[in-house]
Parts: sequence; C-alpha cells; structure tokens
Amino acid sequence: MNEVLGMAGVNVVRGRKRLLNEVDWQVKEGERWVVLGPNGAGKTTLLQIAGARMHPTSGVAGILGEVMGAVDVFELRPRIGLSSAALASHIPENETVLNVVVTASYGMTGRWREKYDQMDERRAFALLHEWGMSTMINRPFASLSEGERKRVQIARALMTDPELLLLDEPGAGLDLGGREDLVHRLSELAADEDSPAMVLVTHHLEEVPPGFTHALLLRAGAVVAAGPIAETLTEENLSTAFGTPLSVTSANGRYTAVAGPRA
Ligand SMILES: Nc1ncnc2c1ncn2[C@@H]1O[C@H](COP(=O)(O)OP(=O)(O)OP(=O)(O)O)[C@@H](O)[C@H]1O
Ligand SMILES: [Mg+2]
Repeated sequence: MNEVLGMAGVNVVRGRKRLLNEVDWQVKEGERWVVLGPNGAGKTTLLQIAGARMHPTSGVAGILGEVMGAVDVFELRPRIGLSSAALASHIPENETVLNVVVTASYGMTGRWREKYDQMDERRAFALLHEWGMSTMINRPFASLSEGERKRVQIARALMTDPELLLLDEPGAGLDLGGREDLVHRLSELAADEDSPAMVLVTHHLEEVPPGFTHALLLRAGAVVAAGPIAETLTEENLSTAFGTPLSVTSANGRYTAVAGPRA
C-alpha cells in the first residue's frame, strides 16, 4: 500500500513554544484516521503540515510521495482536500454556494481552464447534490446555517478529487441532528473505496464515524498513541490525552466518553 503521509521527527516551534514535538506518523492509502486531543494539543498545526500549508521547523514531512521543502507546494495542494474554520472565514460574504465549490479547482488546470469550466460546474453540482445541498446552490454562503456550511466545505474539499482529505472539526457548532447526519455521511464516505485517504480532527469521541480505521491521540504537541482505532481509543490512552480520567464505551462502531470515577 502506498504511503500518503510520512512524518518523522516533526517539530514545529514558534518562539519558545513547541507546537509539535517529535511527531512520527504514517498514513497509508485507504486508511481513515481520526485525530483527537484537547484544545491546544496541536491538531490544527498537524493538519497544516499534512495539507502542505506549513513547513516543519525540523524533521521530515512526506506528503503524497513528495517531501515538504523539496516540492512546489502549489502543485501539491490541489491533491489535498482541506476543510477548516480558518479557510471558511476567507470565503467572501456574497459568494454563492456553487462558486464556493467550483473555485476549489481554479489554478489547478492552468491553460486548459476554459475547456474545463463546464465540467467543473457539473462536478460541483454533483458533489453538492451528494451532500444534500442541491436546492441551495445559488444562495450566498454567508446565509447558510452552520451545518449547511460544513457540508458545502466538505464538497469543496472533494472538488479536486484529492488523494488526501483533511477535515478539521467538521462537527463543530452542529446540533445533535446535524452531528448525526454528518457522522452518517462521513461514515458512508469512509466506506467508499474510491474515497481518498482521510484525516478527521475532532475533540469529541461521539463524532468518530463508524468505519474509520485508525486514530492518533495528541497531547501538548506529542503523540500519546497512534494505530488501529480499537487498540488506540482505550480508556487509558484517552485519559492520558485529555488529562482527566475518562470512562469510554463503544457500541456499533460509535464511541462515547464521560468523566471516569473520581479517585
Ligand atoms: N504562531 C504561534 N505562536 C505561538 N503559539 C502558537 C502559534 N500558533 C499556534 N500556537 C499555539 O500552539 C498550540 C497548538 O495549536 P493548534 O491550533 O494546533 O491546537 P489544536 O489542537 O488545533 O487546538 P483546538 O482544539 O483548540 O483547535 C496552541 O497552544 C496555540 O496557542
Ligand atoms: Mg484546532
């Protein structure tokens, strides 16, 4: 199986703060990862590296067979779908839903651009349809509910048919129904063998979609545990990652965590 991500000894240092500390991580084709950890653990920083948006201060970050620092990131980025609150905040207020998705492909086909315009629109429409947004394609992005925005952002991230899909907290701000709908959709995406390798960042075990195969737990920039999901999402590992005793249950591929018995 091909390696999609290969990080070795990755450090990110800003001033005196170490955002990532000697991170080793491998993601292979076909794998679906969740990244869990408390606020400030370094999850978004890790995705910035995986998405070729940031260079490590030291260590090696291999992405889709290329090495950060030795590759033109503008060639690499279209091969990676990224959805994050930071990116969403850059979307102009009046941009229509269809445009938010279509523009993801701009810059990737260069001189062939015009020929592809119609194909792009068709693909964007198909993705929006899949994500239950086909009735809202002409609405300004800013007028959507949080849940609708999240689905548009994922459609946008899939627009370039990426080899790696990175989702930073797609469940944030969703109500219970919205979260369950998203978990179900992500679970279906994970089950599709044509889907790219996936990395989903969340704080909440309840948001882990059934069918995800691997988990990485971060605390203070360092990896607490990483590997196949059932072996990794243990009470012990999660309690260490979140710095509090947790009681963890799992059933039908869903996980829940609550505070454990107090010592
Ligand atoms: N430029 C910077 N200089 C100093 N510290 C930074 C800088 N950028 C991020 N940090 C710090 O690095 C830590 C990791 O940030 P990061 O955004 O990766 O965490 P996170 O796990 O995504 O957190 P959250 O769950 O709250 O989104 C945080 O403590 C943050 O304040
Ligand atoms: Mg974050």
